[in-house]
Amino acid sequence: MKEKYYDAIINILDYIDEGIQIVDEKGRIVYYNKAARVHDGIEDEEAIGRHILEIYPSLTFDTSTILKSMQTLTSIMNKEQEFVNYKGDKISTINSSLPIRSGKKIIGAIEISKNITTVRELSEKIVDLQSELYKPKFKNKKKKDKNNGTSFTFVDIIGQNKEMLKLKTLAFKASQTDSPVLIGGSTGTGKELFVHSIHNSSTRKDSPFIAQNCAALPANLLESILFGSVKGSFTGANDRPGLFELADGGTLFLDEINSMPLELQAKLLRVLQDKKIRRVGGAKTIDVDVRIVAAYNSNLKDILEKKELRRDLFYRLNVISMTVPDLKDRKDDLPILLDFFIEKHNKKNNKFIKEVSTEVMEIFMKYEWPGNVRELEHVIEGISSIYDIDIIREEHLPYHFTENNLGINTSNGKIEPLNKALERKEKELILTALNKTDGNVSRAAELLEIPRQTLQYRIKKLDI
Ligand SMILES: Nc1ncnc2c1ncn2[C@@H]1O[C@H](COP(=O)(O)OP(=O)(O)O)[C@@H](O)[C@H]1O
Ligand SMILES: [Mg+2]
Repeated sequence: MKEKYYDAIINILDYIDEGIQIVDEKGRIVYYNKAARVHDGIEDEEAIGRHILEIYPSLTFDTSTILKSMQTLTSIMNKEQEFVNYKGDKISTINSSLPIRSGKKIIGAIEISKNITTVRELSEKIVDLQSELYKPKFKNKKKKDKNNGTSFTFVDIIGQNKEMLKLKTLAFKASQTDSPVLIGGSTGTGKELFVHSIHNSSTRKDSPFIAQNCAALPANLLESILFGSVKGSFTGANDRPGLFELADGGTLFLDEINSMPLELQAKLLRVLQDKKIRRVGGAKTIDVDVRIVAAYNSNLKDILEKKELRRDLFYRLNVISMTVPDLKDRKDDLPILLDFFIEKHNKKNNKFIKEVSTEVMEIFMKYEWPGNVRELEHVIEGISSIYDIDIIREEHLPYHFTENNLGINTSNGKIEPLNKALERKEKELILTALNKTDGNVSRAAELLEIPRQTLQYRIKKLDI
């Protein structure tokens, strides 16, 4: 890059939300952007040239991620760090640190840190909103309101495949009990549909259904979101209920359970056994009556072997166990799924699509459907919103269904818009990485060489 642009780059760094700091090979601060100055409670002039441990007396050579990355010559990604800043405030951040090399020599390290106090505040706001949402509704239990936080029942699960019929029967039976359910299956296979349906067929249907993805939040935060907190237990902590209390009488769905940190899994196990929770920092135990449904989207054997899920918790959750098959293993359901989605999006978009051509059906039957039913729906949704046609033919399919993968449709020579092509490629790479790691987001992020949180964000954004 031309040197004349350096100033502009340095200036722009003051406008981003992540804190950035650079230290030299001795650990002395060389650069601080605005966000870092704010969460560290320090002025630029005070910090430059001083040693990092001088600025953060609560850190050590061992706990400072930026010093550690320099000492071990490795990048440290997405590590949670708690420290007391210069003003004496307790701060939680998520840091990624990289050593800086000049040739073979290490000349310092750079750190990007996200202040998760905001994430914490937002997550807590969501809990507050959920509790507001449920309060009035469930006080008056006579007035039946189907809107309990779910949108699906068993009739919405399309599938006549033998395995699917068995699963629906099993899930219905499960709904008539209070036992925990453990449900596996790749992304987009319809796990959530099953979970909603179980809740809606159960005696708990007029009580809340609450879902939490265990991979979406850092460990400490997940703990206080699930179990609640007591004022003063950590910086900014207030008395607030967790999801267990909010879901009282209803169902709590823990998605990607294998991403839950192991200590928290131990705590969850105790809650399942005792049916009591204790808020973070609290002394009082609170009785909760919650039905737990947990899901994972990798290979169960791997999860257990890699110790992502504690065995004792696994036995406790696995009272009723089901695995939703991949779409590629139940292609006999493709025709009814197609009919269903065509009809659904005809209605939505006011279109009159009747069917897919024989050639398209052949292509679909051969295709692997890595994104499963969700991917199938997106394909139909996309076509339905763009074209006014009555039959879906090859030329209407997204580019990756035709043989070449270059963004050039082989049947009509049309070139795919660049944005679309890039997005498609990104989706493809992410799905491939997820398939390779059996759905393990952390390991997929390593394969793609991006931070886990970034991958998580992209998965959400691209609706994978
Ligand atoms: N059997 C099915 N019948 C109808 N729609 C389905 C089915 N399976 C999946 N879908 C559609 O795919 C989407 C993704 O399903 P979801 O349950 O969220 O997948 P998962 O939780 O396994 O990743 C759903 O919102 C729904 O629109
Ligand atoms: Mg899901």
